[in-house]
Amino acid sequence: MLIIVSMSGRNFALIAGPSSINFARSMAKQMECEVVDVEFKEFPDGENYFRIVSDVRGKNVLIVQSLYPPVDQHLIQLLFLSKKVTELGGFVYAICPYLGYSRQHREYLSGEVVSLKVVSHLMASAGVRRLLTVDIHNVEGLGLFTFPAFSVSAIPVIAEYVQRNEDLSDAIIVSPDFGSSTRVENFSKLVNRPYYVFEKERDKVTGEVKVKALQLDLEGKDAYIVDDMISSGGTVVKAARALKSFGVKRIVAVCVHPVLAAGAVEKMFEAGVNKIIASNTIENKYGIVDVSSTVVNYLMLLG
Ligand code: R5P
Repeated sequence: MLIIVSMSGRNFALIAGPSSINFARSMAKQMECEVVDVEFKEFPDGENYFRIVSDVRGKNVLIVQSLYPPVDQHLIQLLFLSKKVTELGGFVYAICPYLGYSRQHREYLSGEVVSLKVVSHLMASAGVRRLLTVDIHNVEGLGLFTFPAFSVSAIPVIAEYVQRNEDLSDAIIVSPDFGSSTRVENFSKLVNRPYYVFEKERDKVTGEVKVKALQLDLEGKDAYIVDDMISSGGTVVKAARALKSFGVKRIVAVCVHPVLAAGAVEKMFEAGVNKIIASNTIENKYGIVDVSSTVVNYLMLLG
């Protein structure tokens, strides 16, 4: 069957999942597409209830649902919605601005569950036919999906925000680990400032992070630590301590996904971070850069 996706977005209908109400609203406004009427409630025992009220038969239905904590709750909500839309004759695109479990896309220690693979199978069995996410932790993860899965980068939009709102005359850009270096190199080119890559080691059992960096003279500089996500804050904390010891004056932690597990923000501020700038793939007070246009533009191209 040939699926035609209209360039104007008029063949899309959109569901604002409970975890991404604002992101979805912003997408719907840009795409001028129909918003599917869904009744949702959470029972006192934590179970979810959904009812799809609008007619979705024959439509390409974008279910916008970011998979940030509580990850399992947000995942099950996506699966419920997808299953019902499929039963009602819709074609499901899962739009997961943040794709939880993407850090476990392979077995690091033998016997570990490859969580992302299980997520991919659950999505497929609930009827998901396309997945679009933002800055997946590692693009290798996309290969685990049995249906077309894509990741788009929000770095250009975030870089533009930083350039517009920050004084970058004394700025250096820092990648806290090698894994983020391509992303950070791209960011540094966009804002036209030099960048440094630190080396990070994470203990695979305890999760403890060690950051190594050559002795640098960064007296009086403003450092922008750029990463795909901040979860426990451990990576940023280690990088911030090293930067302070090199004489850095001001530190801004920039990330796409502000997962910010309990205590992360406090730890980072204690380590000398002055500000956090993040995108709205996760809806919290630090997710201030609206990157929904990145997703919309990509959908328009998918054709
Ligand atoms: C790791 O490779 C990622 O790019 C991030 O650096 C990491 O996931 C951040 O996690 P945390 O904040 O827990 O150190």
